[in-house]
Amino acid sequence: MAEIIDGKVFSKEVRDGLKLKLESLFKKTAKRPVLAVVLIGEDPASQVYVKNKIKACAEIGVVSREYIKEASITENELLAIIDDLNNDDDVNGILVQLPLPKGINEKKVINAISPEKDVDGFHPVNIGKVVIGDDTAFMPCTPHGCHELIKKYVPNTDGLHVVVVGRSNIVGKPMANIMVQKNKGANCIVTVCHSASKDISKYTLQADILIAAVGVPEMIKADMVKEGAVVIDVGVNRIPSDEAGKTKLVGDVDFENVSKKVKAISPVPGGVGPVTIAMLMKNTVKAFCIQNGIEE
Ligand code: GUN
Repeated sequence: MAEIIDGKVFSKEVRDGLKLKLESLFKKTAKRPVLAVVLIGEDPASQVYVKNKIKACAEIGVVSREYIKEASITENELLAIIDDLNNDDDVNGILVQLPLPKGINEKKVINAISPEKDVDGFHPVNIGKVVIGDDTAFMPCTPHGCHELIKKYVPNTDGLHVVVVGRSNIVGKPMANIMVQKNKGANCIVTVCHSASKDISKYTLQADILIAAVGVPEMIKADMVKEGAVVIDVGVNRIPSDEAGKTKLVGDVDFENVSKKVKAISPVPGGVGPVTIAMLMKNTVKAFCIQNGIEE
């Protein structure tokens, strides 16, 4: 049976560390980081994510400001809110929860956020910095969290083969770029599989570290993984459960069977999810420090 990569415990360690750091910074500066959280419309999953992010802020001493607007808001109205937040010196970080309602151009909205306040790490400037390995980048929170877990659970990643299944802008592409850097905890050979890959097993079977971020429930089966691999499951899929009328959350990996074969695996829920929020907090503290000239 594999070692379980416990995202809840790791997330708590990170958040406890940030809380201590913010207490000490508050003594020196009498300031706390401020995160603006923008939620448009009433998508239930987004409401839960935003609630959890705001709770995480309160727990570590980040001030959150909520901007909750109806789905009928126009793109220009949303862009005006972002412009105000960009120009507000009290605001260190801006998070616009995705997806946005139809009729609002997500790319335009992301591009409007000042890269210095883009704690989600979605702005092209931050993605570009991730690609060139510039450590002033705000890394997108999910791949950042996966990387932190890999650093903790894999002592030496030099030359290992990482296979990323999925090529989204939010996870797959930045993940591949993080793992290929000539850095400690990376320095890997990276393969990215996606919907046009004809025989995914051919690649996943070679993975020392397999990262599943494809959005297909339990797609990665035991016969697709190498014995002794480390598996990070980014999937969050809701499927019908055995109990009539109920649903359950599963990842992109067939946990029950894959966990019998590999060395370590992150579960869903309780794996990458909680770590993602911890990385958002980390990015917010980083933005606060950079903007206030505080050496980290
Ligand atoms: N929607 C799904 N994941 C994310 C995320 O990490 N950040 C934002 N802003 N929206 C999301």
